[in-house]
Amino acid sequence: MRSLEDMSVLITGGGSGIGLGAAEHFGRRGAFVTIAGRREEPLLAAAEQIGTRCNAVVGDVTVADDRRRMVEDAVEHGGGLDALLSLAGNMYVGTIGALEEDRLLDLFHSNVVAGMMLAQCAKDHLVERKGSIVFAASVHTRRAFPGASGYAATKGAIEALTGVLAAEFGRKGVRVNSVRPGGVHTEILVRGGMAKDDEESRERVEALASAHVLGRIGTTGEIAEALEYLVCAEWTTGEVLTVDGGLSLGVTKG
Ligand SMILES: NC(=O)c1ccc[n+]([C@@H]2O[C@H](COP(=O)([O-])OP(=O)(O)OC[C@H]3O[C@@H](n4cnc5c(N)ncnc54)[C@H](OP(=O)(O)O)[C@@H]3O)[C@@H](O)[C@H]2O)c1
Repeated sequence: MRSLEDMSVLITGGGSGIGLGAAEHFGRRGAFVTIAGRREEPLLAAAEQIGTRCNAVVGDVTVADDRRRMVEDAVEHGGGLDALLSLAGNMYVGTIGALEEDRLLDLFHSNVVAGMMLAQCAKDHLVERKGSIVFAASVHTRRAFPGASGYAATKGAIEALTGVLAAEFGRKGVRVNSVRPGGVHTEILVRGGMAKDDEESRERVEALASAHVLGRIGTTGEIAEALEYLVCAEWTTGEVLTVDGGLSLGVTKG
């Protein structure tokens, strides 16, 4: 296993939720972390809290120039690039009759296409350092949540492209994996308009606790541990690592 010490890591979506948890964890382990997202305030607050090894880049992963800047800043900050954690993502829900085409296209842009284009942008730097890429998949590909077909479809795409990119990059020494989290309380429901505030968001995620075999939702720190494994395990590639407290087992009482 490699160590995170002195690794240079770019984390999109690093200003909140799972990305922030990863930035804190990787920062504690001695990595040079560059976090990126659209909102300046949470990014700067995170960078200040994590310390001088953390660098913040305000930008939108759906914008090509912003993606280039994220990669360039991460390379400058960390002296190269060892890992791209493509965690920025959004939710958009509605049953099939209510879905709007433009919003679905936006969802695929931020959740799928942007990560692929970031991988393109980062590839030469990752080859140089024999680095790795990790994408955010979801338990939504394993359990059916009515009203979330668009979101689940973006995560299915992420899982499919993980293997193909792993095959494309393998002989260049770059690994490509995904993490598949279960329920974790973050900002995603509020940002997507599914909960009015943080309290309602927590209640909605906590309502899923009993569907997890371990009887509780997960923490961002627990997802960060899985991300550390995927970034450091030198013979793991093309893997979608489920870290979901058993939610995807779909246990049904007889
Ligand atoms: N929470 C869960 O239970 C769960 C489960 C499975 C998978 N996931 C996945 O985990 C990832 C992280 O989500 P989270 O739950 O931690 O939610 P979150 O707290 O809302 O974090 C998502 C982050 O992505 C950033 N982002 C969204 N669109 C962006 C864009 N166009 N450009 C740059 N940054 C963008 C957001 O920041 P700005 O709005 O400031 O840009 C936000 O900080 C997502 O891919 C999500 O689908 C979450």
